[in-house]
Amino acid sequence: MNKKHDTSILAGPRQAAILAWYDRHRRAMPWRALPGDTPNPYHVWLSEIMLQQTTVATVGPYFRRFIERWPDMKALARADLDEVLHAWQGLGYYARARNLHRCAMVVASERDGILPDTESDLLTLPGVGRYTAAAVASIAFNRRAAVVDGNVERVMARMFRVLAPLPDAKPELYALAESLTPDNRPGDYAQAVMDLGATVCTPRNPQCLICPWSDSCTGRDIAAELPRRAPKKARPLRRGIAFWLTNTDGAVLLRRRPEKGLLGGMTEVPSTDWREDTKIDIENAHKSAPLPVQDLKPVPGLVEHGFTHFRLELTVVSGTVAGDTGNEMYWCPVDRLGEQALPTLIKKVVRHAQENDR
Ligand code: ADE
Repeated sequence: MNKKHDTSILAGPRQAAILAWYDRHRRAMPWRALPGDTPNPYHVWLSEIMLQQTTVATVGPYFRRFIERWPDMKALARADLDEVLHAWQGLGYYARARNLHRCAMVVASERDGILPDTESDLLTLPGVGRYTAAAVASIAFNRRAAVVDGNVERVMARMFRVLAPLPDAKPELYALAESLTPDNRPGDYAQAVMDLGATVCTPRNPQCLICPWSDSCTGRDIAAELPRRAPKKARPLRRGIAFWLTNTDGAVLLRRRPEKGLLGGMTEVPSTDWREDTKIDIENAHKSAPLPVQDLKPVPGLVEHGFTHFRLELTVVSGTVAGDTGNEMYWCPVDRLGEQALPTLIKKVVRHAQENDR
């Protein structure tokens, strides 16, 4: 039990208040069971994997397409990985889609297509971490489990006036969330706190006046400042040369990044390594080009991007290439780039090349 905040006395009334709020204000979502209906565990699992790092609005159409095409775990397990990856385009990291498919195959072959119903068994499945295991156990199987995402951390930080900054405050916020989780309707409770964070206890302009927890919230006066975050560490600057190489048909050269590591499995234009000491000159560009290029020239300006651990500055060089791409790379007509699932960095490179190449 957390000593600083005694959550025990108020836990019951708080749980009752937010469940009553949820009964009136729950958001309709295509994977949510209607009140009184039994949730479909496959729908819950699929949606929770899709919702990692993406919004509810984005996920909706993907979720509908997936369940229409692969209505249950066994159907998804039988799908070709490439079909799944294709249907995933636009949802971000392909590693998640690969794990999704692997998980379906494991559940189909080892569990007759039925997801396990406890947090600890769920945790053994590919692509299922602490958050997803808790979300599926509670939402699909009504098991008590602390479901803690960024929304829940924010709500807890405000309710209990946690002034310690993230990420150090994570264990404390988890413990607080855990102590408030009810035995009764834990799945509805988990979704209620997430909905509250998304619609009322929002990062900016929290709507304390309409909050079902406003009476017992101890952080109201400074709500918009919570949770605090430790100042970002200065990140080193890495540099690289990105190649905007086209052929005579007006197609651009792309490749897929390795599965492991940063932007794993995503599509990119070729580039040099990104390093603090990359030499940015036309000689190095010629040496590092993925194919021989005659008319290589710099595109004026730079593309800047922030990753968690470093900043990146890319110089784009353009040129035309005749002939074959070799393995690992392929041509994409420029007007079909929109159909590719490009990470933000590469979208910036594309825009930069299209606006400045002359
Ligand atoms: N965010 C991720 N999963 C959610 C859910 N089940 N309800 C509300 N917000 C969510």
